[in-house]
Amino acid sequence: MTPLCLPPDAARLCEELAAPPLLVRHLVLVHDAGGDLLDGLTAAFPGLVLDRATILFGAATHDLGKVLHARELTGPGDLHERDGPGLLEEHCVLPRLARFAGTHGRWRETDDLEDLLVALADAIWCGRRIEQLEMKVAAILAAMTGLERWAAWSKLDAMCGEIASRSENRLAWIQS
Ligand SMILES: [Fe+2]
Repeated sequence: MTPLCLPPDAARLCEELAAPPLLVRHLVLVHDAGGDLLDGLTAAFPGLVLDRATILFGAATHDLGKVLHARELTGPGDLHERDGPGLLEEHCVLPRLARFAGTHGRWRETDDLEDLLVALADAIWCGRRIEQLEMKVAAILAAMTGLERWAAWSKLDAMCGEIASRSENRLAWIQS
């Protein structure tokens, strides 16, 4: 597979922060899955207005706090979420964009669709389905579009299933 390139601002941050290759590859793949997700949402929900650049920047930078907490690259921990936004702001990222470095793991605490979509991309890139997260996103999509909640969920479920079905290619690429 050939994933989408990171947005230039995100690639610059990876360089400035000397992000390890494994982290950069993870960011590339979550950004790639985020692009697929946004393409799917645009097609399935005509008229839905999303700030594509903001969401994709969030997907492309969400885990950069791990440069401060390298153990969380391969193990559990949420210190990178605590410290990620401040780190990005120190590197001239606006707070409204830096926030994703903290919110991606705390999706239960927000109803902001942009934050939820970054969290969703961070799950489905590797085939992980989180029913509670998807239901939350579907409820917001239903409210925004006037669809019944089940109809919005049905569209989102099909989309996430399709993106998740390509996870083997992504996992092979991250290890190549
Ligand atoms: Fe991640």
